[in-house]
Amino acid sequence: MSQPADLSDSWPRWCKRIDRCLEGLIPGATVSPSLLHEAMRYSSIGAGKRYRAALVYAAGHALCVSEEFLDRPACAVELIHAFSLVHDDLPAMDDDDLRRGKPSCHKAFDEATAILAGDALQALAFEILSEPDWNCLSPTVRLNLLSTLAGASGSSGLAGGQVLDLNLTSQDPALETLAAMHRCKTGALIEAAVLMGGLCATDDSATLTCLKNYAQPLGLAFQVIDDVLDGTVDTETLGKPAGADQERGQPTFLSILGEAPARQYAEELRDQAIDALGGLEQNAALLVGLAQFTITRSH
Ligand code: IPE
Ligand code: IPE
Ligand code: MG
Ligand code: MG
Ligand code: MG
Repeated sequence: MSQPADLSDSWPRWCKRIDRCLEGLIPGATVSPSLLHEAMRYSSIGAGKRYRAALVYAAGHALCVSEEFLDRPACAVELIHAFSLVHDDLPAMDDDDLRRGKPSCHKAFDEATAILAGDALQALAFEILSEPDWNCLSPTVRLNLLSTLAGASGSSGLAGGQVLDLNLTSQDPALETLAAMHRCKTGALIEAAVLMGGLCATDDSATLTCLKNYAQPLGLAFQVIDDVLDGTVDTETLGKPAGADQERGQPTFLSILGEAPARQYAEELRDQAIDALGGLEQNAALLVGLAQFTITRSH
């Protein structure tokens, strides 16, 4: 198995590529409707770890895809993610006032603008993959990217998981119920990110299965650690309100298992993810590095 790659060169470069690309793709705040464009840019450019974009680039790298082909798929995943955060913070959902170290979109603007900015970010994700002028990848590949991203965003992925999440408030669910919710609300988009990087190179089912088997435990581990960090790290470090889950009566891996067993569970999931990379050994070091980051991150 590959050693984890040092991500300190690649990751900042990927972040810059995403910001540069989004700067060009989202209309400027001087373009009408200005407030909507301003809110879209506010919520998607210049912040965030870009973890999902990193997964697109690392999976593509494992299969020798050059970064210019991966920019739009990576931006599309980050746009869906940004949209999900804007809506997740709304009063009707988590009602959180801080996101990425600054006021949440509905606080910086207003609720209607935040709802519409989320809608427009989501639409833009699909637009940039389907635009006729972007012809780096074949129509078949682009269709596969679109259907992967749409599936992960919808009722059996992110949106469905958010419903499960809201329904679990003040409940005492079995661990498997919580895991199923996490797999949808967070895991589905993380899986899509990895698969989209892979789909830019191949439709070989063995390779894609290998990537899926990496991404699924990784996606669950990512949300398990998000739960742990919510209850153990300060607001300034997180860039979002610490302790929000407990305040809301949200059952989490932290509340059900406690910190050490939750972290132990995330480590087991990381190991499963890394084991699944057996078929990609040659270039998988970045994916191994991201698996390691998933459980050691501090925000
Ligand atoms: C937060 O995701 C939402 C979850 C799905 C847990 P991130 O922790 O990746 O948020 P950013 O993009 O870095 O702000
Ligand atoms: C959010 O989960 C998952 C999304 C689809 C946005 P959380 O509600 O735990 O995410 P944070 O903690 O607000 O970032
Ligand atoms: Mg939430
Ligand atoms: Mg939230
Ligand atoms: Mg959280």
